[in-house]
Amino acid sequence: MKVGIFYSFNTGKTRSVGERIQKAFGEQAESIDIEIVDANKFSEYDLIIFGASTWYDGGLPEYWNDILPDLENANLKDKPIAIFTLGNQQGYPDHFGDAIFVLAEIFEAQGAKLHGFTSTEGYTFNASKSIRDGKFMGLLIDEESQPELTKDRINNWVEDLKSLCN
Ligand SMILES: Cc1cc2nc3c(=O)[nH]c(=O)nc-3n(C[C@H](O)[C@H](O)[C@H](O)COP(=O)(O)O)c2cc1C
Repeated sequence: MKVGIFYSFNTGKTRSVGERIQKAFGEQAESIDIEIVDANKFSEYDLIIFGASTWYDGGLPEYWNDILPDLENANLKDKPIAIFTLGNQQGYPDHFGDAIFVLAEIFEAQGAKLHGFTSTEGYTFNASKSIRDGKFMGLLIDEESQPELTKDRINNWVEDLKSLCN
């Protein structure tokens, strides 16, 4: 299974988490800078991972305004995808990690199939749009409040996604 991990190379923490996810996958995965991506590139991968931190009361970081128009016509029909975000449950407990939901809405509307749901256990927050059927709709990393849990969260998520190819 060939895995493409798409995130902005110009970010701090998102980039670091993206690199750690790539490392956990090993050789089958590569990172691609979402800021300069050609949407045709998606067809090269069996699984596409999108990453973005959550900003602005549950929105995407500003640079996504330039990215989204280029993705509108991407053919993601039946394409397996997974999403990770970074959030801060102490600083933004009412919009914790909402960016997963924002990205999922966009890509599911294009026909993508969302994988990599995770448990909400171990997090403390008031509300998150990124919960469906009692689970986060992707991987939620909190480098501000719970950096010590990041390693296990990444490894567990990647192991779960690897099982997609079995
Ligand atoms: C202006 C601003 C707004 C933020 N808004 C949210 C938010 O609504 N929800 C959340 O969970 N985290 C929020 N955060 C926390 C970031 O997602 C977190 O700090 C993340 O680690 C940033 O990663 P980055 O440096 O790759 O952008 C916000 C951070 C900033 C600076």
